[in-house]
Amino acid sequence: MINHTNKHPLDAIRYTKTKTISLDPEVLRTNRIVMGLYNDPRADIFRVLRTNVIRQLRENNWNSFAITSATPGAGKTFISVNLAIAIAMEGNQSVLLVDADLKRPAVGNYLDLQLEAGLFDYLNEDISLEDILINPGIERLVVLPGRHSNTNTSELISSRKMVDLIKETKSRYESRIIIFDLPPLFAADDALLFMPHIDAALLVVEDGKNTSDELQHSMHILEQTNLLGLVVNKSKQPVPSYQYGYSYGYSNETVIT
Ligand SMILES: Nc1ncnc2c1ncn2[C@@H]1O[C@H](COP(=O)(O)OP(=O)(O)OP(=O)(O)O)[C@@H](O)[C@H]1O
Ligand SMILES: [Mg+2]
Repeated sequence: MINHTNKHPLDAIRYTKTKTISLDPEVLRTNRIVMGLYNDPRADIFRVLRTNVIRQLRENNWNSFAITSATPGAGKTFISVNLAIAIAMEGNQSVLLVDADLKRPAVGNYLDLQLEAGLFDYLNEDISLEDILINPGIERLVVLPGRHSNTNTSELISSRKMVDLIKETKSRYESRIIIFDLPPLFAADDALLFMPHIDAALLVVEDGKNTSDELQHSMHILEQTNLLGLVVNKSKQPVPSYQYGYSYGYSNETVIT
């Protein structure tokens, strides 16, 4: 298609026809999006995580990372959304949060977005990006939400269109940080197929659920990936998990209770 306006769809992220909504604090509270609430002490841990992540991205000249876990339900989306808000609001950085979990997209639920289309529609149809992007009323934050798909998601996630989208988002505005909320590593090969196209990953570990074997297996899967750290989520006690049993030999941890 000839682009008569000479404007790339990704310009939408900046020049915005991007739809803007405002977030309801009650929804945020219910969904544990503590970063969006005024003065909530539970947000402190996301500030620590934000500082750690931004430092590593800067040191390495990276601008994209994924959030994944071994098994479902570890807290990937919870952490993706809180961290994206933390980086945009207080890290003074533009953020694009992409819901790249095509099977179980949930970023929209966490923020209570009313979605007509999502990443799946963009990959599958001739639909423009600017019709999908949403600014959830937080400066410097844009969300590329997901919408549930029953089709073969690993084909879609590694499709030419998806790879081009990642390349474009990464190179177009280098100062923007792109966060991809991914499916779990053990669920399908979506996450694995995705990793080579982005700079780094954060691994979420569900405390008391993920075994040491599962962790080691995850580290093995992520061998070729730059690991930003482990986030031990749903921790029963706010102490480093190595004190009670894991032996995966990686020390850059954030513990969330
Ligand atoms: N630290 C926490 N404390 C209490 N509940 C939590 C915590 N983190 C996440 N949860 C809850 O656990 C559930 C799963 O979280 P979330 O949806 O973020 O996991 P996920 O890893 O993205 O799951 P999926 O594999 O389905 O994508 C949600 O109900 C969420 O609110
Ligand atoms: Mg999720």
